[in-house]
Amino acid sequence: MEHVIGIDLGTSAVKVLLVDWTGKVKGECTEAYPLYQPYSGYSEQNPEDWVEKTITALRKVLQVSNVDPSSIVGLSFSGQMHGLVLLSENNEVVRPAILWNDTRTTEECRLIEEKVGRDKLLSITKNRALEGFTLPKLLWVKKHEPHLYKQVRTFLLPKDYVRMRLTGHIAMEYSDAAGTLLLDISKKVWSEEICQALDINIHLCPPLVESTDYVGTLLPEIAEKTGLSKNTKVFAGGADNACGAIGAGILEEGQTMCSIGTSGVVLAFEQTGEREFGGKVHYFNHAKPNSYYIMGVTLAAGYSFDWFKRTFLNHMSFSEIVKRAYQSSIGANGLLFTPYLVGERTPHADADIRASFIGVDAIHTSWDFARAVLEGITFSLNESVEIIRASGKRVDTVVSIGGGAKSEEWLQIQADIFATPIEKLKNEQGPSMGAAMIAAYGCKWFPSLEHCARIFKDVEQVVEPNSRAVERYKEIFEMYKEIYLQTKELSKKLKAFRR
Ligand code: XUL
Repeated sequence: MEHVIGIDLGTSAVKVLLVDWTGKVKGECTEAYPLYQPYSGYSEQNPEDWVEKTITALRKVLQVSNVDPSSIVGLSFSGQMHGLVLLSENNEVVRPAILWNDTRTTEECRLIEEKVGRDKLLSITKNRALEGFTLPKLLWVKKHEPHLYKQVRTFLLPKDYVRMRLTGHIAMEYSDAAGTLLLDISKKVWSEEICQALDINIHLCPPLVESTDYVGTLLPEIAEKTGLSKNTKVFAGGADNACGAIGAGILEEGQTMCSIGTSGVVLAFEQTGEREFGGKVHYFNHAKPNSYYIMGVTLAAGYSFDWFKRTFLNHMSFSEIVKRAYQSSIGANGLLFTPYLVGERTPHADADIRASFIGVDAIHTSWDFARAVLEGITFSLNESVEIIRASGKRVDTVVSIGGGAKSEEWLQIQADIFATPIEKLKNEQGPSMGAAMIAAYGCKWFPSLEHCARIFKDVEQVVEPNSRAVERYKEIFEMYKEIYLQTKELSKKLKAFRR
């Protein structure tokens, strides 16, 4: 029997998934790597760590699954978006990668708006200048590290870099290129206009390919190190959100997904790329060729919960904390939390805003705090659901994936706050499954990604909203939305006191 592999290059770890032609998981392996945050707002990784850990995970997945390496006919990638990897003449990495959750580039965002013009930028890229995107990072290096910028011959995104190291083939695929802020997302070409306005040599931009394109086979030394066959076909792959969407079967108009990982996203399929959202949500090319998706992002979703656990309840497991939190009440006994630990994207593109607990009372216990954190993350995602609904799109059910789908209680909170049934998938594997599906389609196992999703996607449970909870949450959500406006200026002033 033939197999394919999906590699998801995440922010905290790389996950490798090996599946058969029915989508059944035959093996998986996760290898972690460090994240460097030397100053508030900085977030960097060493690209060599990605390569090394990907090779290790590939080798280990072969061992745990015990399948014949020659049966693995294809592999593809999913990856954290926007991270800037700068390469010199010999394709050597010039400096550590600056990641999607790095927010040092506010000045560069203003510069982009000034030089390109907000409306022009929106008409070309369909997105606003946000700190997390790649172009502001490129401009930051140009200004602050000119000696390094001089050496740069091209730039790549994280998973495109790893793919290059595995195959020797340089390219960037559209779903990730869309997050650079340099791509004309409708014409699918690098924007000369943006490059000119910002004095960036367009030749730094790598060749573009479709997510489903075949890019080559594994280099002999990689085949040797991993134990894979050197004939394994490699397909370009997609941005993690696009791959998460493929794995969740978000391939047609009307389908919506909520993914809670380190960041959280609410994502809806868009066929034409013609609808206008005025930059309120991100608008990117999908990994399904010639289609798009819109997406709202909560920067610190799972990260907020992880921070809370680490800081206050480190001795307990996540599931224990969620269970106890659920015994608090709707609205956490009058306690609200905004998940702005590292700034925010949707609907408030604001790198300076910081999180708050509002309404702390002497009656509150750790579990009220934990519940407020779970609800705050979900309220933040609901702001994106609200924008999607306001555009006229229907949100009739939401497929929930990631850490937020692992707990019954959090699924119920999502159903109650989004006021919609929530689909939970059986054996949900997140973006790595989407990457495996790209490889499966690339290897011609199926005539389309939709056909593949029909076989690979398996809904295990539908969680219905509780009408009383929906009504209560509607009221609390209105208060939640006020917090941003009330804490915005304070957050700015507090910035001066942070390390
Ligand atoms: C999307 C974004 C994040 C990363 C996480 O714009 O920045 O979702 O892709 O890996």
